[in-house]
Amino acid sequence: MDIDSFAAQAAFELIERQLPDAGKDQSVAIIDIGGAIMTLNVMRNGQSVYLREQPFGGNQLTQEIQSHFGMSPEEAEAAKRAGGLPDNYETDVLAPFLDRLGLEVARALQFFFASTQFNQINHILLAGGCAALPGIDEVVTKRAAVNTRVANPFANMALSSKIRPKQLTSDAPSLMVACGLAMRRFDA
Ligand SMILES: Nc1ncnc2c1ncn2[C@@H]1O[C@H](COP(=O)(O)OP(=O)(O)OP(=O)(O)O)[C@@H](O)[C@H]1O
Ligand SMILES: [Mg+2]
Repeated sequence: MDIDSFAAQAAFELIERQLPDAGKDQSVAIIDIGGAIMTLNVMRNGQSVYLREQPFGGNQLTQEIQSHFGMSPEEAEAAKRAGGLPDNYETDVLAPFLDRLGLEVARALQFFFASTQFNQINHILLAGGCAALPGIDEVVTKRAAVNTRVANPFANMALSSKIRPKQLTSDAPSLMVACGLAMRRFDA
């Protein structure tokens, strides 16, 4: 297991407490969607029972923004995060991408069911940069037919007054790994 998934697993301990019954005896899928790679990590009682990566990520959306609006990669990346793209962005570019993302998630879960003894996922937690996309939780809930929320390892942490809560909420899924690394017990 690579360091990213290991750290995300540590951050999962924080998130688990926010689940009904603290996630006990439930299968929780942590789905990290980054730039090029989507990772499905299924956890039960704090242990990873399944880990699989597949090529899918937000780089595809960035490329579609580039070609649709004639932007450079840098412009497309910045506009995607900051907003301010033309009105047709949501219907013409974002919605079709989210649709494909939902399908990829559903397929990844089918593969998990087909290759393990498990036949149910109780919750999905979304992490990685793409988890910040508006509407992603609704799309995944619908496609996967599983209760889905965006992972927020900071939900129960006291925040410094220097941190803007809104910005942290948007950055939180990307910070899963950093958060997990910070929590690692070096005496373990
Ligand atoms: N606020 C945001 N809104 C929309 N997309 C975002 C936002 N922040 C980051 N992203 C997208 O998330 C992706 C990067 O996510 P992340 O940082 O998790 O990837 P990574 O771990 O570097 O890549 P990978 O996991 O593929 O190796 C990029 O496609 C980026 O455009
Ligand atoms: Mg990543």
